[in-house]
Amino acid sequence: MKLLLVLLFLQVTPGESYREVTGYIGENATLLSGADPNRTLSTINWLIYTNNTLIATLIKGTIKVDWFDRYKGRLSLNNSSGDLTIRNLTSKDAMQYNVDLTDTERHNSAHKIDLKVKRK
Ligand SMILES: *[C@@H]1O[C@H](CO)[C@@H](O)[C@H](O)[C@H]1NC(C)=O
Ligand SMILES: *[C@@H]1O[C@H](CO)[C@@H](O)[C@H](O)[C@H]1NC(C)=O
Ligand SMILES: *[C@@H]1O[C@H](CO)[C@@H](O)[C@H](O)[C@H]1NC(C)=O
Ligand SMILES: *[C@@H]1O[C@H](CO)[C@@H](O)[C@H](O)[C@H]1NC(C)=O
Ligand SMILES: *[C@@H]1O[C@H](CO)[C@@H](O)[C@H](O)[C@H]1NC(C)=O
Ligand SMILES: *[C@@H]1O[C@H](CO)[C@@H](O)[C@H](O)[C@H]1NC(C)=O
Repeated sequence: MKLLLVLLFLQVTPGESYREVTGYIGENATLLSGADPNRTLSTINWLIYTNNTLIATLIKGTIKVDWFDRYKGRLSLNNSSGDLTIRNLTSKDAMQYNVDLTDTERHNSAHKIDLKVKRK
């Protein structure tokens, strides 16, 4: 009950820089990178926690999604859109995700995505 109240509170708190995504335990969720589709991405970094732990990257044409044990085998990164798919969601996946993007014209952007995980 306490947890539910906290979630409701967060949901009504305004936060313009956030994009929210809701997923369900055991299902998949795709976090949109927010990349401009007209630009070609050269580097993608998906990060979690305040210490910026890497979970998925595209660096020099190579996708790597096994940085962090808890997500092993559950992530896929789309190298053109920058979107991150998390499969078989657990309640622990609910948190803020940060994505840093660099395109081939050396333009940088960063976006935050708040993932909520619900029980169906
Ligand atoms: C999640 O993704 C996997 C692999 O792409 C797929 O086999 C599975 O059906 C998806 N699950 C749901 C609930 O969509
Ligand atoms: C992408 O390019 C097309 C055609 O040049 C333009 O119409 C569209 O607004 C652009 N999209 C973004 C997000 O900049
Ligand atoms: C970053 O923070 C997470 C959660 O607080 C922790 O589990 C992880 O070990 C930390 N990583 C490093 C490199 O300090
Ligand atoms: C993106 O990945 C696909 C296959 O997963 C590959 O064919 C393609 O060359 C990759 N594109 C870039 C720009 O790396
Ligand atoms: C990757 O993203 C592009 C652009 O959004 C989309 O057309 C393509 O189908 C995606 N690839 C996969 C494997 O989901
Ligand atoms: C999903 O994760 C649970 C544990 O969180 C595991 O027991 C189950 O086998 C996983 N399902 C798939 C399809 O990977």
